[in-house]
Amino acid sequence: MLRFFVRRFFNNPVAEQTRKMSGVKLPGSHGSLSGKVAIITASTDGIGLAAAQALGQRGAHVVVSSRRQSNVDRAVSLLQGQDILVTGTTCNVGKREDREKLVNMTLEQCGGVDILVSNAAVNPFFGNILDSTESVWDKILDVNVKSAFLLTQLVVPHMKERGGGSVVFVSSVAGYQPMQALGPYSVSKTALLGLTRALAPELAQNNIRVNCVAPGVIRTSFSQALWENEDILEDFKKQLSIKRIGEPEEIGGVIAFLCSQDASYITGETITATGGMSGRL
Ligand SMILES: NC(=O)c1ccc[n+]([C@@H]2O[C@H](COP(=O)([O-])OP(=O)(O)OC[C@H]3O[C@@H](n4cnc5c(N)ncnc54)[C@H](OP(=O)(O)O)[C@@H]3O)[C@@H](O)[C@H]2O)c1
Repeated sequence: MLRFFVRRFFNNPVAEQTRKMSGVKLPGSHGSLSGKVAIITASTDGIGLAAAQALGQRGAHVVVSSRRQSNVDRAVSLLQGQDILVTGTTCNVGKREDREKLVNMTLEQCGGVDILVSNAAVNPFFGNILDSTESVWDKILDVNVKSAFLLTQLVVPHMKERGGGSVVFVSSVAGYQPMQALGPYSVSKTALLGLTRALAPELAQNNIRVNCVAPGVIRTSFSQALWENEDILEDFKKQLSIKRIGEPEEIGGVIAFLCSQDASYITGETITATGGMSGRL
């Protein structure tokens, strides 16, 4: 029965016309991002750098950024050494003038923007959530949540000009299950799940997909306190089906998939990549 329907659909001239009108490209383009321009925030190290590599290896012109010029320079030369088309600039995502500079430079030097990977986050507080101060909340919400929305707002008009685009937010498994001593950070990551859901229906009409990835514990400086201590690490592994922590490239690949034509029917979704850590059904 299913085979009958599939054959009817793919041999049907009306269905073919519908596919053309919806802009859906069936097998051929797949995961290639050739000709696309991708802004990735906080992309001079860790998951952001791995995302830049994954998008660049698939043919995208990647725009890397972070707060420190020395880190930008290092990432640019690393990616150039891998034959990736790359442009770099400093950008602290918590500063409006930096966000505007990042987008304007991308438009000037790359001719447009098709992809935004909003990856930056900070965590200035460990402890009992009731001890967190207003300034902690301001910083976490500014960098982890508001900047993700405000950058999306800046790039959307330019994605519309290109006929569509893709936005990916980097949340965390902590967004589903708050981590001990990381209350405000966890709440900020839950907010990104909501932001994904809020934006997706509004932007679908412009052929812009909005998705999110929620990593488990990944080997980066951000999570070093967890994986460099053998006892803590062994205890943590009990929560995992795959008995190791993840590598940044394992998140970069998920992000590249979400930005690609392979994910053309996915929007408003969050993919967890946690080694089987239970976060949700
Ligand atoms: N690692 C994990 O286990 C894990 C798990 C779940 C989710 N995540 C999420 O993954 C994302 C990336 O984390 P990561 O582990 O890859 O971190 P990381 O390896 O420590 O890298 C952090 C990057 O962010 C940049 N950065 C820091 N603050 C910034 C700001 N305000 N504006 C712009 N860039 C900034 C840093 O460069 P500069 O110092 O030059 O600014 C650096 O390039 C975050 O959203 C984090 O919440 C990580």
